[in-house]
Amino acid sequence: MKKIHFNVIDSTNTYLEKNFRKLPNPCAVYADIQTVGKGRLNRRWDSGAGGLWFSVLFKNPLLPPPVLQRICSIVSVEILMELTDEKGFGLKWPNDIYFKDKKISGCLQKNIFSGSETACIVGTGININNTIPEELTDKGISLKMITGKEYDCSEILNIILINIERELKDFDEKNLISRYRGYSIIKPGSKVSVRRFEDEMVLVGEVLEHPMDDIKIRIGNEIFIYKSGDITLKEW
Ligand code: BTN
Repeated sequence: MKKIHFNVIDSTNTYLEKNFRKLPNPCAVYADIQTVGKGRLNRRWDSGAGGLWFSVLFKNPLLPPPVLQRICSIVSVEILMELTDEKGFGLKWPNDIYFKDKKISGCLQKNIFSGSETACIVGTGININNTIPEELTDKGISLKMITGKEYDCSEILNIILINIERELKDFDEKNLISRYRGYSIIKPGSKVSVRRFEDEMVLVGEVLEHPMDDIKIRIGNEIFIYKSGDITLKEW
């Protein structure tokens, strides 16, 4: 896969949004520092030196965007597990990676429909050697904080990209779903607190099925189905 590197950029996702037409398919952009790193739900993504900040462009993809995003997060969690031999990694629906109760990685997807062209951009941030800002240390963690070792981000990226291409070539939906479920922290029976964006209410419920593109939660006597953009979830 072609890779484009920047020392400093506003956001690798934004770069692909602006330039996807002239770039090959697929291709990846990564940067040492992002000055305007974007997180989900319009949050900021802290992207200082030492982290792995990259976005992959899929032009006119044959697979649906949620599947592409799932491929990226599965491949990322697997490399973290391989590198550390640690058991504490898991995927938190929809595509965050946690180590125990702290977030180490997140994914931000952007779909573009422009005339007859479509593009899906999957941006991934993984805290590798970067320092986690003081105000986030109760929620976030880096690979270096887990193992005490420094890592070569571009080597990790190379493995991730090779593995993404392999998943695309040998696409096997059943296998992907079973790996996703296996790594999932949120499972049927998980007790969760749900913060709804529509009214900012926080409610406690129980997850009813393996979450995938959406999540089914029983709250009191009612059953709700949410998309990832509707709520934030916490294990309870
Ligand atoms: C989240 O969990 O909120 C998603 C974080 C996504 C961060 C990555 S870093 C590379 C790419 N460029 C961005 O501006 N954001 C994504």
